[in-house]
Amino acid sequence: MNSIAQTDFLVIGAGVAGLRAALELAPHGLVLVVTKEAVRESNTHYAQGGIAVAMEGSEDVALHLEDTIVAGDGLVAHAAAEALVNEGPLRVAELIEGGANFDREGDTLLRTREAAHSRPRILHANGDATGAEIGRALAELARKNANIRFAEWTTVTNLVIADGYVAGADLLDRDGKLERVATRAVLIAAGGAGQVYSHTTNPAVATGDGVALAARAGAELADMEFYQFHPTALALPGVPAFLLSEALRGEGAYLRNDRGERFMERYDKRLELAPRDVVARAVFREGMGAAPGETRPVYLDMRHVAGIDLHKRFPGISGFLAQHGLDLHRNQIPIRPAAHYMMGGIRIDLDGRTNVRGLYAAGEAACTGLHGANRLASNSLLEGLVFGARAGRAILADGLPQTNAGQREPAKQSAMPIEPIETILGAILRELHQRMDHCAGLVREDAGLREGLAAQARCSVKLNEPAQVSAPSRRLIEAQSLCLVAGAILRSALARTESRGAHFRADYPQRDDAHFRKHSVYAPQQDAIRFEAW
Ligand code: SIN
Repeated sequence: MNSIAQTDFLVIGAGVAGLRAALELAPHGLVLVVTKEAVRESNTHYAQGGIAVAMEGSEDVALHLEDTIVAGDGLVAHAAAEALVNEGPLRVAELIEGGANFDREGDTLLRTREAAHSRPRILHANGDATGAEIGRALAELARKNANIRFAEWTTVTNLVIADGYVAGADLLDRDGKLERVATRAVLIAAGGAGQVYSHTTNPAVATGDGVALAARAGAELADMEFYQFHPTALALPGVPAFLLSEALRGEGAYLRNDRGERFMERYDKRLELAPRDVVARAVFREGMGAAPGETRPVYLDMRHVAGIDLHKRFPGISGFLAQHGLDLHRNQIPIRPAAHYMMGGIRIDLDGRTNVRGLYAAGEAACTGLHGANRLASNSLLEGLVFGARAGRAILADGLPQTNAGQREPAKQSAMPIEPIETILGAILRELHQRMDHCAGLVREDAGLREGLAAQARCSVKLNEPAQVSAPSRRLIEAQSLCLVAGAILRSALARTESRGAHFRADYPQRDDAHFRKHSVYAPQQDAIRFEAW
């Protein structure tokens, strides 16, 4: 990291929301984009299926709104969803103008369908690499802009608050060098926290650092109980939970159990294209097996799909499957649900403002209530574009002053070699994963959530030891972030004594609109939860 003591705007995260915000801010000052690895390594890069957008006029805008609201199971914040569907077409048109290439036939953009969409409106790129193409186009625009600088392989350890404003941040580079950067505003767009569960479609960087930074700075979190599990991640022993895009079902894939039954017939009349929470729970139930701890195989089956070359339509997925001896045309593909998307996050208004002055958030790290209890497929890339741009505009409109960020405390020297610290952190994270899978996965209940909270508290205490004796490290910060996020999920899930969207309580299996048609708001510093309608 080249030394940067001051910037006008600090953006944490280089996915779609962070890059879009940086482009909005750049004409008005210096922007520093900080990211833990190389720019491409974000949830955005791994998004396969596409970007949902109504570009066929006002009728489809209205239908896109309705689909988003229905999928969200009674909890979608309408104003946020309206902003998404109304502003989405312009943001996507700008992106195409800026160089993003979506798949076309001749001049016509190709559109596919995914679960809970009433019509095909999902644009895609290179078949199944839509996020990578959007990320590439935005990063190229940002790299050409002289006002945008990048600090790659850099972890934010701490936000600096002075006179009630966010005044800067402490950055740790991969050589262990710490530096304080003063800034007028910080935008957190650091993505989700899939790594809080042991099976996730998210890359290793998705450890909820942005949420944890904001929470420690005094920001409120919202809807943290709603963690979306994708129904179809690859289930092969020793192989990561590779995403098998919902677009496969959009192109006709069936889901079958080990008896060959197309089991969605028993769960929902929309079959494989029912909302994601419904399909994920059905896959989970079919795979649970007869005895405790036993699992049964569940499959995605496209062998019947004719008239389409699946290798051409889904080159990334086909290539990955081929490495494991599987072929979409010839084999049933073993699947399992895996943690995929955090519907909750840092509570923001429609323009990215948190309750901490100078601190903004956008994208998966943030929560407007847009997704309600269950995100509609392929709405997340659009969310990043629309709300990244809105947050950028709000930062400019707020015209915050530069406050004195003060001096950083000298970095502590490690009193313990790295090796034992890595071992301690590995053991703590294994315990956290096990408890989160068991207590806060697709099916939850009171006793399990309390057990999970007790385990989370133990992990938090155990993390104090390495935190006291070691110099700051990325691994330690990630473990602390995951532990904080786990606590927020567990507390919020315990407080919501109903079932809705991605949050299913075996002990409260019904949706309870009379009490819970509201968003949960968690104030980490008071450790208090309340419910609010908005
Ligand atoms: C997928 O391709 O299935 C992921 C789309 C999404 O998460 O919206």
